[in-house]
Amino acid sequence: MEKKILFPQIGGLVHGGDYNPDQWLDRPDILEEDVRMMKKAGVNCVTLGVFSWAAYEPEEGNFHFEWMEKIIEKLYQNGIYTILSTPSGARPAWLDGRYIEAMRVDSRGVRDHHGKRHNHCMTSERFREKVAVIDRMLAEHLGTHPGVILYHISNELGGECFCPRCVQKFQMYLAERYEYDIDRLNAEWWTSFWSHHYNTFSEIEPPFENGETSVMGLNMEWKRFTTWNMNNFMQFEIDVLRSVTPDIPVTTNFMGLFGGLDYRKMAPKLDVISWDNYPCYHNDWETFTETMSDTAFNHAVMRSMKRGKPFMMMESTPSLVNWHKVNKLKRPGVHKLSCVQAVACGSDSVQYFQWRKGRGSYEQFHGAVVDHAGTDDSRVFRDVAEAGELLKKLAPVAGTTVSTRAALLFDWDNRWAIWDVKALGQETKKYERTCIGIWQEFMKLGIDMDVVGSDEDLSRYDVVVAPMLYLLQPGTADNLRAFVERGGQLLATYFTGYVDDAQLCYLGGFPGDGLKELFGIVSEEIDSYYPSDRNGIAMKDGSRWEVVDYAEILKVQDAEVLGTYTDDFYQGSAAVTCKSHGKGNAYYVAARTSAGEMRPLFEKMLADAGISVRKLPEGVEYHVRSGEEGSYEFYLNCNTEPVKIAGVNGLDMVTDREVREEMTLPGYGVAVIRQ
Ligand code: GLA
Ligand code: ZN
Repeated sequence: MEKKILFPQIGGLVHGGDYNPDQWLDRPDILEEDVRMMKKAGVNCVTLGVFSWAAYEPEEGNFHFEWMEKIIEKLYQNGIYTILSTPSGARPAWLDGRYIEAMRVDSRGVRDHHGKRHNHCMTSERFREKVAVIDRMLAEHLGTHPGVILYHISNELGGECFCPRCVQKFQMYLAERYEYDIDRLNAEWWTSFWSHHYNTFSEIEPPFENGETSVMGLNMEWKRFTTWNMNNFMQFEIDVLRSVTPDIPVTTNFMGLFGGLDYRKMAPKLDVISWDNYPCYHNDWETFTETMSDTAFNHAVMRSMKRGKPFMMMESTPSLVNWHKVNKLKRPGVHKLSCVQAVACGSDSVQYFQWRKGRGSYEQFHGAVVDHAGTDDSRVFRDVAEAGELLKKLAPVAGTTVSTRAALLFDWDNRWAIWDVKALGQETKKYERTCIGIWQEFMKLGIDMDVVGSDEDLSRYDVVVAPMLYLLQPGTADNLRAFVERGGQLLATYFTGYVDDAQLCYLGGFPGDGLKELFGIVSEEIDSYYPSDRNGIAMKDGSRWEVVDYAEILKVQDAEVLGTYTDDFYQGSAAVTCKSHGKGNAYYVAARTSAGEMRPLFEKMLADAGISVRKLPEGVEYHVRSGEEGSYEFYLNCNTEPVKIAGVNGLDMVTDREVREEMTLPGYGVAVIRQ
């Protein structure tokens, strides 16, 4: 496999983070000290200018880029590269004062006042004009500097705007989407219900909180439109930058499983995927291992958006944040563990928010590499410097990738449809948790599944799990059928194939669109349980699974029954089935059980697909990156106690020692074995 080095200038892994020198322009001594300490911490890249609009353009049309140019140059002279952000994530007061349309209107129709950040209207022409001017100047004055290796578009794009311009744009978007055929929209939105009929596209309002929120089609299209409009805004910024500096790659920082935007629709416009990672380490509602493996899932979602290419962890904290319910410190050892986890999962960067704590305002107590004490003699600084040393050693890993023949289907449209649907138990839908739980069970078998959308080409996979695939996109059912007919191992669950892309129910039995035939079953009813309700599944192999939350009642057509319900009025009826299609198998698990209970099925699927598993001690994560020169096995001990791991052979790049057969990892210890 050919290596995909993100930044030949750096060559290895990126280490650094958000740097806000604009807060210290009156302290040249501190800026000087920053460079010295960055070098000491092994920082080779910083992100500049994320919120610098007011410093670049303190008054309309009065531009100052010299100060930033000096900083970029100084860093460059010291071997530190720059990720340059466009400043559209926060607006100066003069801008909102003069162009009020830049400020968003909220879901009750109230215009925001000036303030905060990340809250611009994506449609406003005036605002776009202002952004175009500053972005162009930015590219001309700073983007041409050899130290700039990547553009960072805005910051954590997100949110909705209900202003009259956005409403009108939404109506135009709908008119195009429905080919100016209002009857088609009425049919797809089922507007004969509750007199929801529209005569013209101009009658359609977005789902205002105090307005129309009961049309599923409308709610979904508003979400799709918001993604489309945000993408349109992002592309607009990219186009401006490219018109001046076409060769500089672009990214924007995603927020993991953020539900407001379908990131998969944005990914193709970006050269590199990056995201901001802020887990609640050491919380009181889950184990540390669980927190870590939730992060691993998020990394996999990001990685899978550009398969075969590393992604970047654009932000993380070296110590604590200031916005969690409880802002707890990372325990000793956890910093290194979390940095190596990002790399293990396919990131070619470890970056922080922030380099230095500001003296005042909203984020003055957010963790940073350099604290208010201003010293490099601190626990956090030493942790960061140690991570910097280790990342240097791991340089050969840069450009290698995590690759796999197993995928989990996790779809944004499906998320939105499940959130919105009036069915099931409102508190127990848990689509995300269900997907994450299954993904983690595979991870415990040493399998780093890709996480893909339902329109993804599945031909590169041999095992696919598609939990709760309630909404089927056009083509998804064909895709799944082709996968199984080609010999793939597929598993679906309760709540699959109920509605089409417009959220209209399939007639003639679920799962629709030909999936009944693929699985050989019809789902006749779905039972939702109160939290204390339980059922069981007696599996043919003698095991018994526990059922919580949901149980579908099946009619079996031509599938083999692998398990039946143990209780209630549907006792004895089918709960787990399999229909074979040549070498391919289509499994259906009709009730919610823990992912752990399904493990034997997962193991069988992997075995039938010829994929070998690697079982590790409890709390040890295992990931593999590979490139043309071989592979790197990552072992992460998420336990506080040491663990012995057998079957390890090769050079540990962390300790520089050769491992033969067995190694002991200390609590929170890591090993990277080169093969
Ligand atoms: C986000 C933002 C940063 C900062 C951090 C704090 O990720 O992008 O600007 O506010 O959160 O955790
Ligand atoms: Zn707007």
